[in-house]
Amino acid sequence: MLSLLRTVVVLFVSLASIAYAVHTVEIQGQDFVDSKTSKRLMIIGVDYQPGGQAGYKPQSGQDPLTNGTVCLRDAALLQRLGVNTIRVYNIDPSANHDDCASIFNAVGIYMILDVNSPLAGESLDRSDPSGSYNADYLTRTFGIVEAFKNFPNTLAFFAANEVMNDIPSSKENPPYIRAIQRDLKNYIAAHATRTIPVGYSAADVRPILNDTYNYFQCNIDGKTDLTRSDFIGLNSYSWCGAAATFQTAGYNDLVSMFQNSSLPIFFSEYGCNKPLGIPRVFNEVAALYGPQMTALSGGLVYEYSEEEADYGLVNINENATVTLKKDYDNLQDHYNKLNLTLLQSADPTATNAKAPECSSGLISDSGFSQNFTIPSPPDGVDDLIKNGIKNPNNGKLVDVTETAVPMAIYGSNGVEVKGLAIKILGNDDSNLPGGETTSANATSTGAAPSASATKKGAAGKLSADTGGLLAVALTCLLML
Ligand SMILES: *[C@@H]1O[C@H](CO)[C@@H](O)[C@H](O)[C@H]1NC(C)=O
Ligand SMILES: *[C@@H]1O[C@H](CO)[C@@H](O)[C@H](O)[C@H]1NC(C)=O
Ligand SMILES: *[C@@H]1O[C@H](CO)[C@@H](O)[C@H](O)[C@H]1NC(C)=O
Ligand SMILES: *[C@@H]1O[C@H](CO)[C@@H](O)[C@H](O)[C@H]1NC(C)=O
Ligand SMILES: *[C@@H]1O[C@H](CO)[C@@H](O)[C@H](O)[C@H]1NC(C)=O
Ligand SMILES: *[C@@H]1O[C@H](CO)[C@@H](O)[C@H](O)[C@H]1NC(C)=O
Ligand SMILES: *[C@@H]1O[C@H](CO)[C@@H](O)[C@H](O)[C@H]1NC(C)=O
Repeated sequence: MLSLLRTVVVLFVSLASIAYAVHTVEIQGQDFVDSKTSKRLMIIGVDYQPGGQAGYKPQSGQDPLTNGTVCLRDAALLQRLGVNTIRVYNIDPSANHDDCASIFNAVGIYMILDVNSPLAGESLDRSDPSGSYNADYLTRTFGIVEAFKNFPNTLAFFAANEVMNDIPSSKENPPYIRAIQRDLKNYIAAHATRTIPVGYSAADVRPILNDTYNYFQCNIDGKTDLTRSDFIGLNSYSWCGAAATFQTAGYNDLVSMFQNSSLPIFFSEYGCNKPLGIPRVFNEVAALYGPQMTALSGGLVYEYSEEEADYGLVNINENATVTLKKDYDNLQDHYNKLNLTLLQSADPTATNAKAPECSSGLISDSGFSQNFTIPSPPDGVDDLIKNGIKNPNNGKLVDVTETAVPMAIYGSNGVEVKGLAIKILGNDDSNLPGGETTSANATSTGAAPSASATKKGAAGKLSADTGGLLAVALTCLLML
């Protein structure tokens, strides 16, 4: 009897402390879909790199996902804003990301991770692709896979970002990017328990955009081949100011270009900040998530924190408090108006375009590579893929126990937003817009930060709390 009770206690305790896990996401046609519910995941995202490039300090083991207190603060603000995805650029493969990744998981936010960094040897050098595509570099990228492969909220990896930014740079580099994608996918297949998509983040340079799309979408020899991109991100800044429209921003051209895509395409950065010096109004949000643009899978606003380039949604103060910018409020107002039914309901089977077979005929004569002979892995890399890298640093979900944001948060009007906390969502939830706003007026918002869409999340949390209480009760019983 006692041992049975003990078993029950252990069961309750483990239920109470079970790490919540978002459903993993997979690709079907041109959609990201929830692997359990098959609902489409439209990316409602923000690029996250507090400190900019300087936020990556491998010599002291720091990157944007290493300080749990900071991540708790930012996850609360991002959850309230309504996002379901962040992109993180510069990561130290040997650092501990467990707290941050677990916090973002708990609030229903996925992570798209770049495997590169701006430091020498940690990305493909566009002026020397053959020299920089080497075993040391690939070891770093495999380290990122090891660090993030076990988190259910790891949505995808970017193999490269804006390597081609003009015609000259599009001549030699494309085959090397396909090679990196292949190596990453082979590594994931050998060392992860699930498929994690790998893709390319492209600059919106219209003379090479269609070639980029054609080059990375196609299958060599008509077979599904691993060098292909699983998805393409587009860094898009063509919608500027309050007067821009679907047509003037060229969104109509993007839709016709990508309409029959065989892979998901989304904005990996967007949010033009011109005219400078005034808050962004984010009218493009209604277009991006509206019925005209369902061929794209949403996007990520550049960027969470104010850095040198002046694209922030929030100011991170030196004392680690945060002051929201008006941009945050404006973006949230648009998110709160999105048609969530439309976002989740696109039928994946309606987008089953087949990837074309690669051929030089797909590529214009502008100078973009027409070479589909992909470099073989450098010496030693086949062994790395087969046996794994040495001393991999594997991240793992940990319990998220703190929920209250310990530092002060100030609204865009300067008034403190009181009681901000993360809301831990139920097992099957990703975050959705619908959060409380501060823009309407200046009063504090009380202790209920999150979204109407998280009702189920609240229920999930309740049952876990109940489990915890029951476990405590049963433990007391045992001690008697
Ligand atoms: C996409 O497919 C539709 C229907 O088959 C066709 O009418 C349209 O021309 C195609 N668009 C492009 C850009 O290929
Ligand atoms: C933190 O710094 C900000 C900006 O300088 C200031 O407005 C705020 O009062 C400070 N808050 C605390 C709690 O020190
Ligand atoms: C995490 O960030 C907070 C706020 O900036 C800081 O006070 C704390 O020392 C940091 N923790 C670590 C371990 O660096
Ligand atoms: C939301 O989208 C759904 C599915 O396309 C549509 O039936 C519905 O009318 C839309 N709601 C609004 C308010 O536009
Ligand atoms: C993009 O490339 C495809 C395939 O070569 C071609 O059919 C299409 O006309 C191109 N579209 C644009 C806008 O250049
Ligand atoms: C195509 O790229 C391969 C390396 O991937 C290289 O060996 C070959 O010379 C290139 N072909 C042309 C025509 O440039
Ligand atoms: C702020 O909004 C709340 C809820 O709409 C309202 O009750 C309150 O009176 C408003 N406060 C001010 C200062 O406008």
